[in-house]
Amino acid sequence: MNKILVCGGAGYIGSHVTLSLLRKGQTPVIVDNFANSDPSVIGRLNSLAGVQIECHEVELADEAAVSRTFQEVKPSAVIQLAGLKSVGQSVANPTDYYSVNLGITLNILSAMERYSCDRIVFSSSATVYGEPEYVPIDEAHCVSPINPYGRTKYFQEEIIRDWVAAGELSSAVILRYFNPVGADASGVIGEDPSGIPNNLMPILGDTAAGIRKEVEIFGGDYATRDGTCERDYIHVSDLADAHVAALACDPEDKFEVFNVGTGRGVTVREAIDAYSSALGRPLPERMGARREGDAASSVAANEKIVSRLNWRPLRSFEDACRDDVRWRSQKSKSNSM
Ligand code: WQD
Repeated sequence: MNKILVCGGAGYIGSHVTLSLLRKGQTPVIVDNFANSDPSVIGRLNSLAGVQIECHEVELADEAAVSRTFQEVKPSAVIQLAGLKSVGQSVANPTDYYSVNLGITLNILSAMERYSCDRIVFSSSATVYGEPEYVPIDEAHCVSPINPYGRTKYFQEEIIRDWVAAGELSSAVILRYFNPVGADASGVIGEDPSGIPNNLMPILGDTAAGIRKEVEIFGGDYATRDGTCERDYIHVSDLADAHVAALACDPEDKFEVFNVGTGRGVTVREAIDAYSSALGRPLPERMGARREGDAASSVAANEKIVSRLNWRPLRSFEDACRDDVRWRSQKSKSNSM
């Protein structure tokens, strides 16, 4: 059977990708070091999908360990989502970000070459675009990442491009995520960040749960319809399905980049209101100062992925809020048992 190695498969996006693959009849194999994920997700995925998913606890930064895993699993394709992903931490610790993120992908590519695995789908990010010169952002937009995290994503894209050009890989698909949010509608898996979250959605959830006193809005004087920043929030289940579609595609010139977003912007103000209505009560909030590095608007032009991968976003931001509320309420119930 064709095994798909999901590197980082126990994480927020990775667990949803694993579930999408299972629901489409594929055979995912999870590889993760559980540094930023809870091993209990494997059992929850097994019960959700009614299977026993093959899982390997592996430090992907360790080349020998990666090679042994490929020798054992012999995957036909790889979905590479593993790596460090905090913009703020990348500024404070650029060396860690370059050595870990680039090291992991280099280890995976070497093992793919050694064990004749020749297809990769790579998890990249809209952060590679830096400050948008125009919105909505299409794949032709210039790439100018403004932080080490974004640069590690772009450098990994280029490493993969060179691998394909040298004939070491038959094909590669790069998915540039906009802002992933929400949870599987079952409420069994969802975003479960270790540590204090920086992203808006988990902060809304933490405020709803009383973990935070209020939501601080980072600036109300941007040139947007309500003065707060606008983002393209893509439901994690739609994002996961895009990976399954990417595996099946035949990329132009063997290497192709796709923006993964809804094409619809949601402002911070609208996000707070949508989450409050999913909750059934208003969230406490206060207006704060702008956050350094924030762009007023970042929204995807998604025509390319819609037409080339025959994929489209099916879920709204409002769906993501309802699914996140359900996930957090089921998580707190199981934690209290
Ligand atoms: C969204 C909006 C904030 C928190 C980041 C990374 C990017 C990608 C996605 C990995 C912004 C505002 C936030 C808060 C607020 N991650 N906000 N109060 O910055 O668009 O992108 O996550 O690939 O690399 O940069 O997402 O969720 O941090 O912020 O007002 O307490 O919410 O100003 O406008 P961002 P975010």
